Amino acid sequence: MLSTQSLLKNTIVRGIPTSGMTLSSLKLATNYSTISKAMVCEKHGKPKDVLRLKELTIPKIKDDEVLVKFLAAPINPSDINQIEGVYPIKPRFKKYGAVGGNEGVAEVVAAGNKVKNLTVGDWVIPDTKAFGTWQTFAASPENELQKISKNISKISASTISVNPPTAYRMLKDFVNLKKGDVIIQNGANSAVGQAVIQIAKAWGIKTINVVRDRPNFDELADQLHKLGATLVIKEEDLRANSTRELVKNLGSPVRLGLNCVGGKSANGITRLLGHNASLVTYGGMSKQPLTFGTGPFIFKNLKACGFWNSRWNKEASKKDKQYMFDDLCELIRGGYLAEPWHDETKWELSDDNKTLNRKFMKALSKAGASFGNKKQILTFE
Ligand SMILES: NC(=O)c1ccc[n+]([C@@H]2O[C@H](COP(=O)([O-])OP(=O)(O)OC[C@H]3O[C@@H](n4cnc5c(N)ncnc54)[C@H](OP(=O)(O)O)[C@@H]3O)[C@@H](O)[C@H]2O)c1
Repeated sequence: MLSTQSLLKNTIVRGIPTSGMTLSSLKLATNYSTISKAMVCEKHGKPKDVLRLKELTIPKIKDDEVLVKFLAAPINPSDINQIEGVYPIKPRFKKYGAVGGNEGVAEVVAAGNKVKNLTVGDWVIPDTKAFGTWQTFAASPENELQKISKNISKISASTISVNPPTAYRMLKDFVNLKKGDVIIQNGANSAVGQAVIQIAKAWGIKTINVVRDRPNFDELADQLHKLGATLVIKEEDLRANSTRELVKNLGSPVRLGLNCVGGKSANGITRLLGHNASLVTYGGMSKQPLTFGTGPFIFKNLKACGFWNSRWNKEASKKDKQYMFDDLCELIRGGYLAEPWHDETKWELSDDNKTLNRKFMKALSKAGASFGNKKQILTFE
């Protein structure tokens, strides 16, 4: 397998035709332009209809810029919503279109003269919106990137900037949770849900985890228990008296609810919340609006609010972000926070453009599937 170093050695060449090049024939150096293979859309629409592989010329980097080579990038629900045009953050459309993907990890392979905080070999994650991570190379001002520890796997690093911070912030910022406290979440098998279970377990917090019923429910429940889930229940059990009993037996009222589904599921969760609890909505996977029974809100003094990681990211200082990422990396290195369940799609150096496009489209179709259960992650050799 070729490493970045061998790629660097093999690819500083001038004047080769770009059309139909394989990944192994890319050019790379500070004073040469670089070709990036990218999944690009020219307009909003269903990703499968509007995305296609393009070769983009990345001009020589400026003094305050770095050239990065992507190592891995996931396909998240918000990436899809963004391309569809139904997300508050829009893709960065340029003359050639917009590169998809917001999350991923890349290695710095060249740095301009005035770059202060990054050096060749560092791993970085985007620290700006709509970066465009479904591509092999990108040039970026250093302040649009956040350095990340290299002591974690590239799969963990490529999925560290959206879902683990969402889980981390929601567990920290809404209710002052203590050891032994109980929280409840739906969509518990999502990547965010998996992170919630593991971070909560590491901090001594019990979790009630709600998932949709499926033929292999027991297997899924078993996997979630292995991550550290305290209880795993089906959506339809939210209203059962037997569930109330199970929750009571946990010994503490439920102080926080995390909702990424909406509709009936969110309402069901409010029935199990304790007095003065908060319900934090961060996703709307069912595409159903939030409607709550009036009683629980009045008589239990519930609060409902939203959380958006992009807003936190925009408002937080570099220092606060670094603190959180260091903490998350510690959890990963300590074995408390595993890679999300995933399928890896490898873009190989020898792949031609047609193959890269086909591989991406296959991963994309799995990313949108119900009961898919696995994050689709693109890795670049
Ligand atoms: N607000 C924020 O800052 C923020 C940050 C990160 C993520 N999010 C949101 O959080 C959600 C999860 O993201 P992720 O990356 O963790 O997703 P993911 O790993 O792709 O998982 C998707 C989850 O949604 C569930 N789901 C899909 N369709 C559903 C439906 N019709 N009804 C109920 N559940 C359904 C899936 O359950 P099944 O297995 O049953 O299909 C699965 O649990 C998304 O809505 C995402 O946009 C928000």
